[in-house]
Amino acid sequence: MSDMTSFIRELPKAELHLHIEGTLEPELRFKLAARNSIALPYSTLEEMRAGYLFHDLPSFLAVYYDAMSVLKTSQDFYDLAWAYLERAHAENVRYAEIFFDPQAHTSRGVAFHTVLSGLRNAVLDGRRLLGIRAQLIMCILRDHSAAYGMATLLESLAYRDLIIGIGLDSDEAGNPPAKFAEVFRRAREEGYRLTMHCDVDQAGSTDHIRQCLDVIGVERIDHGVNVLDDASLVAAAAARGIGFTVCPVSNRYVTGELKAHELRRMLQRGLKVTVNSDDPAYFDAYVTDNLVAAAAAAGLTEPDLVQLERNAFEVSWLGPGAKDALLGELDRFEAAALSEEA
Ligand code: ADE
Ligand code: ZN
Repeated sequence: MSDMTSFIRELPKAELHLHIEGTLEPELRFKLAARNSIALPYSTLEEMRAGYLFHDLPSFLAVYYDAMSVLKTSQDFYDLAWAYLERAHAENVRYAEIFFDPQAHTSRGVAFHTVLSGLRNAVLDGRRLLGIRAQLIMCILRDHSAAYGMATLLESLAYRDLIIGIGLDSDEAGNPPAKFAEVFRRAREEGYRLTMHCDVDQAGSTDHIRQCLDVIGVERIDHGVNVLDDASLVAAAAARGIGFTVCPVSNRYVTGELKAHELRRMLQRGLKVTVNSDDPAYFDAYVTDNLVAAAAAAGLTEPDLVQLERNAFEVSWLGPGAKDALLGELDRFEAAALSEEA
């Protein structure tokens, strides 16, 4: 392992853009299919992986939603989240904000409570048994109606204390942030923190980023690399301390490019940019791999990598005590790494 790779593995990290359904590894998909007596159109792991063919966001989403059919019981959701937390813990992710897509499950007859109880129990065990902190963010699917989004938001209120914030994901084409203005206004009133996906190189990307800032009033934007296309947006996002959760390897799968140079430019312009894995089971890269790939492609230095993680802890939705504790851990890691170099 190179010095840079081990530095990145050991660096205390926060992951803020991670779809729990996107961590469904082929092995677990087979196991859950067997447990739930679901027939799959593959007989080997290799065949399953070979079926994971995508070249843009819609083709990825088709594979991603199809695979979820094996998730049925609370135990299934627990196993999914537990596998991610163990993996994240092994690479020194100290804190994760985990997206989940309830409508992808309620729309096929799995109860909201089933999804949430499994995820919540895994989060609790992650803290108790591994010392990793995590919180849940509920995403609304933007390619469904605003009315269905609102109904899902209202359903979530029974679990308000278990969910830190609301996001917006799925297919962005023709589904701008403003479509969900009412849903997000209500979410804010209910005390949820707000974020939204602005996927990379979409039709209307800069308009969508502007709507996020001016119409919705998000604190973070998921992806959001196209902010660089408009200097006034960069200035507004920097002034407001908006967090950007960039996912380099995901970018490569859906646009053909890591956008690592864009990541470096975002850092240089003082944006609170972070690096994350998005859907690691499909893009074959957890957060360490994403940081290693971006560092190699854009020549990021160790101080740049520390800054990315400082940004992540700062724009996280941890309470002040836990945030300060993890920022302190990062400071101590940096001081020890620098003194080793001297
Ligand atoms: N759902 C899971 N991954 C996503 C992504 N990268 N963009 C939009 N929706 C998603
Ligand atoms: Zn995403």
